[in-house]
Amino acid sequence: MFGLNTEHRLFGLDIGSSSVKLLEFSGATHNPRVTAYAWAALPEGAVVVDQVQDEGQVARAITQVVQASGTKMKHCAIGVGQGLTGITKVIQLPATLSDDQLEEQIKVDFERHIPHRINAVSWDFQRLGPTPGRESLVDVLLVACRREIVVRHEAAVNRAGLTCDVIDLTVFALHRAVNHLLLGEHPIDSFVIMDLGASVSRVHVFLNGMLQHVRDVDVAGHRLTDGLQESYNLSYEEAQNALRTGKLPHGYERSVIAPFEGELRLQLNRTLRSLRTADLELDQLQQIFLSGGCAILPNLAENLRADLGIPVQVANPFAKLPLGGRVAREELRHSGPMLLMAAGLALRGLKRD
Ligand SMILES: Nc1ncnc2c1ncn2[C@@H]1O[C@H](COP(=O)(O)OP(=O)(O)OP(=O)(O)O)[C@@H](O)[C@H]1O
Ligand SMILES: [Mg+2]
Repeated sequence: MFGLNTEHRLFGLDIGSSSVKLLEFSGATHNPRVTAYAWAALPEGAVVVDQVQDEGQVARAITQVVQASGTKMKHCAIGVGQGLTGITKVIQLPATLSDDQLEEQIKVDFERHIPHRINAVSWDFQRLGPTPGRESLVDVLLVACRREIVVRHEAAVNRAGLTCDVIDLTVFALHRAVNHLLLGEHPIDSFVIMDLGASVSRVHVFLNGMLQHVRDVDVAGHRLTDGLQESYNLSYEEAQNALRTGKLPHGYERSVIAPFEGELRLQLNRTLRSLRTADLELDQLQQIFLSGGCAILPNLAENLRADLGIPVQVANPFAKLPLGGRVAREELRHSGPMLLMAAGLALRGLKRD
């Protein structure tokens, strides 16, 4: 499911809870070029925390982005939620087993590794390499996601006349985008990606190149939208639109943004500090990357850096990329952090170099 190689050229499709984003690259993974981009708002409740609730509305938004972007492709890569619903685990198995034998072995012991019945999840595995210090064993990454999440995402995409060639865990899409588009020739391997979306703010911690922790914080963009709606008597659509276009009511920064930013920052701090177990000290972390709509909040990155003592970067995947003629450059640069996930998915459509 997750790791299939595809024959087709494909674009990345990020189905978020406030909007659908389409991004298409051409070229090579170390130096891609944006060839298509579009964004479409979703009505409230169509997608809620990783899960498609209304396939028809999501399919309509997908059709809109396909038309608006001008892409000719019919195949895409989508992401499905990790957080509480997806699971990753590294297990050790005999190094002599073939891929088919690994699969059989994993099936036998599945519920010992992943706390779900095998029939209730979509799953895949990837050989990582020899287990350090144990030559006879190989490290295998096992990933799973509740089947109904995958099925509903795929159904919405199919209803829009597209095929999902790649279904990725969202955490891997973010990691790929950071690695290829932000770090490039200066790799680091212990960092945090905080994806600050509309229905959830998700903290992903990578240590020595491996995913170590995922934690969900329920203070997210929808709360900010709610605050704007209440304070200024706006509809959900008007509040979302005001945030996106920057056409905000007078005084909103003090009355709505500042209290929200304070609460979000407090929860992110708490979450990261709560992970200070035997395997994680904050000073092991080399960088924090912020993605999603709330990464754009003024002062958040700077304040988090001061709180935690770790460098914080707002993750703009387009900072160093050439942008093709058809795409709206200014909008892309401004919305960059909201497109990190779509960028990580779009990279799946390029040949590895
Ligand atoms: N300048 C901004 N422009 C757009 N959205 C913003 C801005 N500042 C804050 N936001 C908030 O960011 C959210 C949208 O972010 P994003 O597109 O990352 O969410 P999503 O991917 O749709 O949701 P999720 O990942 O939770 O499913 C909105 O809820 C909005 O309130
Ligand atoms: Mg999102």
